[in-house]
Amino acid sequence: MEAHSAVEERNILEKIPALLLSWYDGCARVLPWREEPTPYRVWVSEIMLQQTRVEAVKPYYERFLEQLPTVAALAAAPEEQLLKLWEGLGYYNRVRNLQKGARQVMEEFHGEIPPSFEALRSLSGVGEYTAGAIASIAFGIPVPAVDGNVLRVVSRLLARRDDILDAKVKKRVEAEISAIIPKERAGDFNQSLMELGAMVCLPNGAPKCGECPLREICRAHEQGMEESLPVKAPKKSRKVEERTLFLLTCRGKLALNRRPEKGLLAGMWELPGVPGKQKEPEAREALEAWGIQVKDLQKLVEAKHIFTHVEWRMVGWAGEITEPVPCFTWVSAQELSREIALPSAFRAYVPEMEKRLQQNI
Ligand code: ADE
Ligand code: SF4
Repeated sequence: MEAHSAVEERNILEKIPALLLSWYDGCARVLPWREEPTPYRVWVSEIMLQQTRVEAVKPYYERFLEQLPTVAALAAAPEEQLLKLWEGLGYYNRVRNLQKGARQVMEEFHGEIPPSFEALRSLSGVGEYTAGAIASIAFGIPVPAVDGNVLRVVSRLLARRDDILDAKVKKRVEAEISAIIPKERAGDFNQSLMELGAMVCLPNGAPKCGECPLREICRAHEQGMEESLPVKAPKKSRKVEERTLFLLTCRGKLALNRRPEKGLLAGMWELPGVPGKQKEPEAREALEAWGIQVKDLQKLVEAKHIFTHVEWRMVGWAGEITEPVPCFTWVSAQELSREIALPSAFRAYVPEMEKRLQQNI
């Protein structure tokens, strides 16, 4: 393929702001954090949006801000409240780090979210992208906020075959975006790039070039390459882990376990379990090792859950026991719905849990 000169690339890049901002002014989605972009509201939105789609975030966002409307409230919140507010969003370390960051703001910045890229970057859980997003959207500071969406848009616009997961490629795009950010509308410009990536220049080979404000300057479109860019390095395959989970009830309470403080779902609640997909005799043996005898052990559905690096394939066994063994925490239906945050990995077993807890009340 022909190589493009740096001058030609700069010509394309320089045309982006005017085209994109006028499109954004007419077409941007109305989103709760755009209505009132205070530093705290923007920060919370950016953390929630890190691994989660806008539509999934919306209801969580409103509830989070109602219950924890200020940095001070967030800094002081009990962990169980935080996890409950995050229940179902996944990647729970995001909210733990968000709280650490809020505590830093209280202790190191007199309770005021600092209006500087470097200071924002020093907060727990705030990386280059997030610091750039908060700095530009909440404070109007002209710094880039380059995430996967923006990398995809730029690599298509310039028809680059670089690996967008490469840190050097990201650095280069950050420098290029820095050079074209309109000083007066830094936040809108960064959001217009994100918006284009989310609504038009879609991933997985499906961009809607027909409705794209940049199609006249887009090299990938010109070359008919839009569906094969960006080039992605082949993904490492996920490790498959089989697990057997137990849904044990005793007098209207359910047995839960705390996961270890390190590793997958660190410190979260889980259904007690053992490795492997166990058939009834082995399942009974595992229970006996905990000192549990179950008269009627019932097989539940099989389920799977996909994490970033691991896939769980689960089988469940349910039983009612007469004495609560002390190695588990026993929770009521009410505690489960109001206080306990159970990771979505266990979602497939929730209806059965609810049914059994209700029968026992
Ligand atoms: N994704 C991350 N930040 C966003 C924002 N401010 N608007 C839309 N999508 C986003
Ligand atoms: Fe993406 Fe197509 Fe627009 Fe190019 S023309 S930026 S490929 S949507």
